Amino acid sequence: MADAAQVTIRRATPADVPGLSAMLKALVAAGKRSRPADEAFVMASYVANPDGISCFVALSEDGEVLGLQALSRATAGNPYGTPEGWGIIGTHVSPAAARRGVGLGLFRATREAAQAAGLPAIEAYIQTANAEGRGYYAAMGFCSWRSPVGVDCKRFDLST
Ligand SMILES: CC(C)(COP(=O)(O)OP(=O)(O)OC[C@H]1O[C@@H](n2cnc3c(N)ncnc32)[C@H](O)[C@@H]1OP(=O)(O)O)[C@@H](O)C(=O)NCCC(=O)NCCS
Repeated sequence: MADAAQVTIRRATPADVPGLSAMLKALVAAGKRSRPADEAFVMASYVANPDGISCFVALSEDGEVLGLQALSRATAGNPYGTPEGWGIIGTHVSPAAARRGVGLGLFRATREAAQAAGLPAIEAYIQTANAEGRGYYAAMGFCSWRSPVGVDCKRFDLST
């Protein structure tokens, strides 16, 4: 596995969907994901989400998918209760690549995309039991600001 210095971050394309799906299935197998991981879901929810702003993929030197970060624009009545017009972020790093700076590299790219899109803020909707997700977003500068039952919602405010 490549170290962080050898990781490529770029926008995901439909050709990445099989690799992204395989990486998400590895997260499911590791007990770190409960949502779908099939190719149709990856395409509709991440790569070609109609409300999507960016979907970045992290790749090793040999082209293996190490991670995915998707940012979409919150619409009225979205299932997370995120304020309309904010960004909604999701981050997924391969269990085999965890804690090597992949998530950090992905957020650098996503933060730029969010700023370019003029978002006022980004929200992460994290299960309270997900200590690594909470630790990651806190390290990226997100702050807790509301707490639906069993959930820690963290926000990242963007400078205008
Ligand atoms: C959470 C997740 C995205 C972190 O990705 P990552 O590539 O391992 O993160 P990085 O290596 O870039 O870590 C950056 C910082 O985040 C924090 N962090 C990362 N993993 C952490 C963990 N398991 N526990 C506490 N803090 C953690 C640390 O401060 C870390 O910096 P450090 O390693 O110098 O201490 C990844 O573990 C993952 O995909 N988990 C499963 C899915 C998930 O929980 N997604 C997020 C919630 S929806």
